[in-house]
Parts: sequence; structure tokens; C-alpha cells
Amino acid sequence: MDIRLTDSNLKDIACDALVVGVAIQKGEQQGHNIVLSKTAGKADNLLEGLIHEIYAAGEFRGSLGELTTIYSMGKLAAKRVVIVGLGVQSKLSPQGVRRATATAARHLQSTGAHSIALALDWEDTEQLVQAEVEGALLGLYTFKKYLHSNTNGKGDGVSQILVLADNANDSKLKEAKQRGLVFAEATNFARDLVNEPPNVLTPTELANRACTMAKQFGLECQVLDRPQMQELGMGGLLAVSQGSAQPPKFIILRYRGAPQGTRKGMALVGKGITFDAGGISIKPAERMHEMKGDMAGAAAVIAAMQIIATLKPAINVTALVSTTENMPDGSAYRPGDIIRIMNGKTVEILNTDAEGRLVLADAISYAVKDGLSPIIDVATLTGAIVVALGTIMSGVFCNDTELCDEIIASGHAVGEKFWPMPLDDEYEEDILSDIADVKQTGGRPASACKAAKILEQFVGDAQWAHLDIAGTDFVDVKKPYQERGGTGFATRTLAELVLRRAEEL
Ligand code: BES
Ligand code: MN
Ligand code: ZN
Repeated sequence: MDIRLTDSNLKDIACDALVVGVAIQKGEQQGHNIVLSKTAGKADNLLEGLIHEIYAAGEFRGSLGELTTIYSMGKLAAKRVVIVGLGVQSKLSPQGVRRATATAARHLQSTGAHSIALALDWEDTEQLVQAEVEGALLGLYTFKKYLHSNTNGKGDGVSQILVLADNANDSKLKEAKQRGLVFAEATNFARDLVNEPPNVLTPTELANRACTMAKQFGLECQVLDRPQMQELGMGGLLAVSQGSAQPPKFIILRYRGAPQGTRKGMALVGKGITFDAGGISIKPAERMHEMKGDMAGAAAVIAAMQIIATLKPAINVTALVSTTENMPDGSAYRPGDIIRIMNGKTVEILNTDAEGRLVLADAISYAVKDGLSPIIDVATLTGAIVVALGTIMSGVFCNDTELCDEIIASGHAVGEKFWPMPLDDEYEEDILSDIADVKQTGGRPASACKAAKILEQFVGDAQWAHLDIAGTDFVDVKKPYQERGGTGFATRTLAELVLRRAEEL
């Protein structure tokens, strides 16, 4: 992909399509009116008022992601001008620009465009340039590698993106463009990992892909096998893997950006269940195939490390991923079993489908033993969080309000929503067992909160946050701005959080 900033004359920018933004201005009396962005205004002049005419005719309202195509008939070097709605002007945000750009880019790719020029500009801010680049690359993402005809039949898709700017040589804008590219490519890497079928993306393959990325981007990569897990006492990961023909892996990626002798740094912990059949407490067949995505937390953590390795913040970060399948089998772990986690605590197994907390408990214990803090774990942990928050936002459970606020703010900056959830002590009653240190589940009410409460048993004195991304990790309906399947959710929030914390040190 060729991505460039350009400050050429609008009339002379040759491309298949020029995308310009138009917003709604809420007026006091007259209902609403449209406002053209800087470039949309210039394009309107070159087109002799056509954009205003289309609006006046009622064909275009300016709502977020709405598209209208105008053929420029030689009035501009761009073959067509695509007007994209940005929604209400006062609510305009980088996320709105990201979504609108993604929608336009995706639409243009499906209609055979190869080169697109983006001008959703209100002003040349770094944030907007980054949002445009990110939006375009996220919108253009497809997962077609298993299709016999590997294209959409209209050529090879968009291969050139021009971003209009007042000064294409501004180093801040160039940096923003690069950041958008790095953030989007990593998110798409996470999407690829989630979208791979579970017969391909086994725990071994996930470890291979993590190490291949690590080698390419200069991270240390270490993969623990079963004997090493046994030595460390990782009874959670080992129990869950018992029923699978695939061996479990524990992936460790290390990035060292802090000066020698400073703190050990943060841990990013990911749930990497490459297929969750539920085990002996087997899931219903309906929608079971979606459980190939039960490694989305691991994907986000690994992909975030790619961003960190590229942008090189001055902080140490370790990624820890427990990965295995959760399958029913004669040797599978059973309800009634009592297992021992790496930190020595015992768990009474009640439902083998609550496997995520067990593999995370070992990874969190590993982070604590390694002296890492804060620990941020990311997991498609509970169906209950989907019931509570749906598919638009994820829950954040945190033992430190400042860290919680930082995560929510980082998410806001990259267009991912998080909502604070309670870790109230009274939930603990339901997870205490008479025959082990903790129960594996605490009943249906508030089960997302109780799952978090169980994880809390393993964090010791560390600062810790748990992001339950079930629901946001995957889209199963067609969206105009993104391919069905993995979303790469949390990849960019984690990277943004790490970059911000490095700035603070
Ligand atoms: N991976 C699932 C959670 C999940 C559900 C993710 C739907 C994405 C979409 C997890 O392992 C699970 O099965 N959780 C159970 C726990 C229960 C048995 C206590 C759940 O939430 O139903
Ligand atoms: Mn499960
Ligand atoms: Zn699961």
C-alpha cells in the first residue's frame, strides 16, 4: 500500500475517487443545514455548486457514513468525488472521521477503485490525519485467503491512498500518517489471527505467528511447552488443555524500552483459547463455530506488541499468552476436579466451559512472580458481559481508579469504548468454596463480575485491570465500515495506553 500526504492543487489530484466530508449543522429554527469541509467547499466550487444542489434536492443529509458519488466529468483530475456524511458537526470526532473514511474506502474498493484521495479535513490536525489513514486501512481490510477467487472480481483493490494536507512536508503530519499505518496494520494482524479457522490457528500456530512477528519487529520471544508448565505448576492451563489433541503453549514476548535499572514494567496478558467447545460442559452446537474467536484477547495483546516494537516507547512491556483448546475427551478435566494454579491456590472446577479464568490465573500468577505491574488482561471471558454491554463497548474491571480512567481515555482516543464494572467485595461470598481456595464459578447473576473477582484472587499487590472483550471482539453482521469477523478490538487501546504511560515516566 502506497500512502502519501499531498498538498497538490485539488483540481490536479489524479485518482479514482476523491473523498470529501460534509457535516450537519444544527440550526436554531430551520431544522438543519450542511457544512462543507475545507476541501468539500473547494470541490463544490470546481463542480459549480453540485454538492449544494444535491443537498438541496434532498438526496443527501450528511448523516454519519452516508455516501453520494458524483462523476467529475473532467472538472477535476479525480474521476469521481465521493461525499461522505460526518454527522452533526458539534459531535465531530476522530472516531467519526475514522468510521466515515472506512465506509467510503470500503465502498470504493468494492466498486473497483485503485487509488483514493482523502479529504475529510476540518483542519490539518495530526489526530485527523491519523484517523483518516487508520479508517481507510481498517475499512479496506478483507479476509479472502480461503476463497478460490482471491479477489472481489474487480481487480486487486485499493493500492494507493493520498491524504490531502495544507503542508505535506509537515513532520508532525508525516508522523501521524505513520502512526495511523502502524495502528491499523497491527489491528488487521489481530483480525487475521481471529479470522483464521481453528484447524489452522492451533495453539502451536498462534505461538509460531507470535514468534514470527517478534523476530520481524525485534522482540524477544519465548514459548513454554507442557514440561515447563508442569515445572512451574501451571495447573489451570494444563487442566484446560487435557482434553485436546493439540499441545498447549505459553507465549512470552518481551519489549525492553526503559533505561537499564528502572522498573520491570507492564504486563499484557491474553486469553488464547483457539477453540472453546466448552469441554465436558459442552456448548450448544448453535454458534459454537464463533468460538474460534476465543483467542481474541491473545490476538490483541500480540498485535499491540507489534505497535510497541515499532514505535519504541521508553517503557518495558511483557506480553503473556496462555493458549490451548478447550475440548471434551476421555482425558478432559471434569466438573468436580480440584486443580492448583501456579501461585499455589486451589480451584474447585464446576463448569469446564469457564476455562478462561483458569488459563488467565496462571498467566497473571506468572506476571506477579515476575514483578510486573500494572497487569492488564484481555479476554473474551463471559457471555454475561455481552448481555450487559452488547457489542459496542467492553467492560473494564480495575483495582485502581487512575488506571481505569487511563484505559477509558486511551480507548476513547482510538475509538474503542470501555465501561467501568464493579469488583465489589460482596461478590466474593459466591466464589468461596468449602473444599478449595476458590470456586471456578459463582452462579449466573453478575457472572462477568464474579469472573473478574476470581481473577482478582491471583493478582497479589499488583495494579491490575481486566478487559472483558466478549461481544466487541467479533462482528457477525455486515457493517459498511468493516469485514465480518474479528475486529481487533483492544489492540489500539493497549498500545495507546503503553505509549501514554511511557510519556508520563
Ligand atoms: N468464551 C466464553 C465466553 C464467550 C461467550 C465469549 C460468548 C464470546 C461470546 C467463555 O469461555 C465461557 O464459556 N463463559 C461462560 C462461563 C460460565 C460457564 C460460568 C459463560 O459466560 O457463559
Ligand atoms: Mn468457555
Ligand atoms: Zn472461552
